[in-house]
Amino acid sequence: DAVTLEQRFQSKVDADERIEPKDWMPDAYRQTLIRQISQHAHSEIVGMLPEGNWITRAPSLRRKAVLIAKVQDEGGHGMYLYSAAETLGISRDELIEQLLAGTAKYSSIFNYPTPTWADVGAIGWLVDGAAIMNQIPICRCSYGPYARAMVRICKEESFHQRQGFEIMMTLARGTAEQKRMAQDALNRWWWPSLMMFGPNDATSKHTAQSMRWKIKRFTNDELRQKFIDITVPQAEYLGLKVPDPDLRWDEQTQHYIHGPIDWKEFEDVLKGNGPCNRERLETRRRAHDEGRWVREAALAYAEKQRARDTQ
Ligand code: 3HC
Repeated sequence: DAVTLEQRFQSKVDADERIEPKDWMPDAYRQTLIRQISQHAHSEIVGMLPEGNWITRAPSLRRKAVLIAKVQDEGGHGMYLYSAAETLGISRDELIEQLLAGTAKYSSIFNYPTPTWADVGAIGWLVDGAAIMNQIPICRCSYGPYARAMVRICKEESFHQRQGFEIMMTLARGTAEQKRMAQDALNRWWWPSLMMFGPNDATSKHTAQSMRWKIKRFTNDELRQKFIDITVPQAEYLGLKVPDPDLRWDEQTQHYIHGPIDWKEFEDVLKGNGPCNRERLETRRRAHDEGRWVREAALAYAEKQRARDTQ
């Protein structure tokens, strides 16, 4: 009966066994994974927009080639993740419809503008840095397809983070104006990057349950702290100042203590009132409409293939 099914499921999770698509799982576990994996996929796809904005204006052919490769990777990450979500019994069309209708979330971080080239560096360094911090533990999450998708994604993320840090290093060691651009980008991306990890554990709706199901291996605050502890020394190495007057190293706990996060800003962005929310969704809706003929042609071609193969 349901109780033993649930108990058997939980003891598999407790024993660090993988749950696969054909295994029995509580509906709430399935729904949580559909929610998280699809929003993760939406983040990858919408995440192509802020950086894509700089492909035609990269300062050198090398930077342009690296940025094209990175943005292309993000699209691929979106595809892996949509495929992982489909194993839970929801169609790609439904998932994309939820994004375009505004009923599904994507990471708040992609609702911020990229006014200068230094933003491409700050995104690689901070946003992909935070994404790596969040994604490495998901390689060990209890749901097989999600964990396996993460292994490939994390390998590519480290390239994303390195190329961003290299851009920041070039600017920080460049002219006074370039160093000012790098500092300005750090000032604008620092706090929104901390918000990527989600609300504090005390107010997080899902963290406790996601920890029990081993969808999460660390809580939001634990990952955020790891990110801060690793990233502050990198900023110092660049000769840049983290825009947090309360930031200080605590010898006792061996962690940085940081200032308060503006959760009002976070809630506003989640409600759709961030600097670029409307523009991002409009761009996705336009791309979806303009790409309709491609989807129709691909389906017609597949139909012809099928008809020919069955003759
Ligand atoms: N942006 C948007 N929504 C967020 C958010 C953020 N930064 N942080 C939390 N939320 C939402 C949650 O989705 C949830 O809303 P919902 O119930 O409608 O889905 C609500 O706020 C409560 O937050 P919780 O912490 O309780 O929710 P979760 O347990 O889902 O934790 C999370 C949030 C840590 C983002 C988790 O969903 C997660 O780890 N997701 C996978 C990682 C991911 O999506 N990363 C995006 C990074 S960007 C990226 O990958 C591209 C990179 O390559 C550049």
